[in-house]
Amino acid sequence: MNKLDSAIIEVSLREAGCQFVDNAKDADVVLINTCSVREHAEQRVWSHLGNLKHTKETRPELVVGIIGCMAQRLAGELLNHPAVDIVCGPAQIPQITELVTKAINEKQKNLAVTENIRRKTPEYQTDALEKFEASYGIEDKQIPGQARLPREYGGQAFVNVMRGCDNFCSYCVVPYVRGPEVSRPPAAIIEQIKKLADRGVKQITLLGQRVNSYKYIAGEKIYCLANLLQMASDIKGIEWIKFITNYPSEEFFDQILQVMADLPKVCNYLHIPAQSGSDKILRAMNRHYTASQYLELLEKARAVVLDIAVAGDFIVGFPGETEEDFQATVDLVKKAKYRNCFIFKYSSRPGTNADKKLQDSVPAEVKQKRNSELLAVQERISDELSRDFLGRGVKVLVEGLSKKAHLNLAHAGGEPQLVGRTAEDWIVVFNGPASLAGQFVKAKITKTSPLTLFGELT
Ligand code: 5AD
Ligand code: SF4
Repeated sequence: MNKLDSAIIEVSLREAGCQFVDNAKDADVVLINTCSVREHAEQRVWSHLGNLKHTKETRPELVVGIIGCMAQRLAGELLNHPAVDIVCGPAQIPQITELVTKAINEKQKNLAVTENIRRKTPEYQTDALEKFEASYGIEDKQIPGQARLPREYGGQAFVNVMRGCDNFCSYCVVPYVRGPEVSRPPAAIIEQIKKLADRGVKQITLLGQRVNSYKYIAGEKIYCLANLLQMASDIKGIEWIKFITNYPSEEFFDQILQVMADLPKVCNYLHIPAQSGSDKILRAMNRHYTASQYLELLEKARAVVLDIAVAGDFIVGFPGETEEDFQATVDLVKKAKYRNCFIFKYSSRPGTNADKKLQDSVPAEVKQKRNSELLAVQERISDELSRDFLGRGVKVLVEGLSKKAHLNLAHAGGEPQLVGRTAEDWIVVFNGPASLAGQFVKAKITKTSPLTLFGELT
């Protein structure tokens, strides 16, 4: 979502005549798009601001803006920081050019954030939809002289199908900074995907905080994610469709799985965070399922979509998590057989229920130890699953140069290292011409590691 928001910012500023430079040191305006989900992400922003404060001592004309969830959450505090000129919440991003122009011309601080709204009234819904649709209009604008839209990357693009979240998991800041859940009209989403397909985009990823709870009511008809997937699947040019991220719930689950099984374009990949394997902790997290209900959902998914790849998220060290609770999480990870999972150490987010009502009781060293232990468990599982690919051919959508593209050029006959993903979201690395970015290729897997498959073009 932040990547997409950054794309809107880039389009708006380029249209206004701004040029982008590679290094913040050379810039007249520095904008930081922020995330508030974990404390660490916010700490990094404060540390950037410390450096920018120094830069401003010698270059007082430098304009600095903070955009996104942190701007929404800490507007006053940020505005008081000596380095900051602009504070712009996620819903105000379409106003960014205006804010930058004002900051440059009027040399005064500028604030644009949404009033805090927790409940979804019909007025909020209409207003939010209007604002969102306006920002999507910006997203799809082409910049003269640039072949790709800022939101396109290696033949793929993200598409927001909804914004916000109504779930209020007790640890999570998202409902506070992104507001209530609002689903976009299906016609607008499909039209946007058609435009992307016309431009040569081959893979789209539908985005929502709980994308499987997408629901749009038009007269008698209720559209759910499965309907969107079907409609997107009919679009010529689109070959792979993914969606992230899912909340473990029965609602619409069968329909979504059936569409995944029936439609070849819908990738057999399900990111479905469990967060914990302990029923006590799940309750305290305000997640509305037990560990065994979660495993039943996975079992069902595997029965309907035979080769489905499942990924998850976990938080270790949630307040009150005992060693026994943690071992229940280890147990769940072993049973779930994820292709990959993302593991986070709990950090208390101000304003959330966990922050208000529970003490962050698990010591930092224990969180670290549990994090490493869970990672090691998953690594063994991922390693085993990836070994299955040895000697097999896989279809890959090439994203572009890998991070190590510049190494070993001579060894690989002068061709750089490329990276891409399979339909099941496995990362594949191989050597080939950079011109393959955005194309589908076949690769034969010759070596594996827990997170990456290494191969040769065939
Ligand atoms: N502390 C640690 N991890 C968190 N996440 C969300 N909130 C917190 C928090 N307060 C994790 C969850 C979520 C992912 C995006 O970030 O696992 O799925
Ligand atoms: Fe946060 Fe829970 Fe909503 Fe996900 S479902 S965004 S974890 S509140």
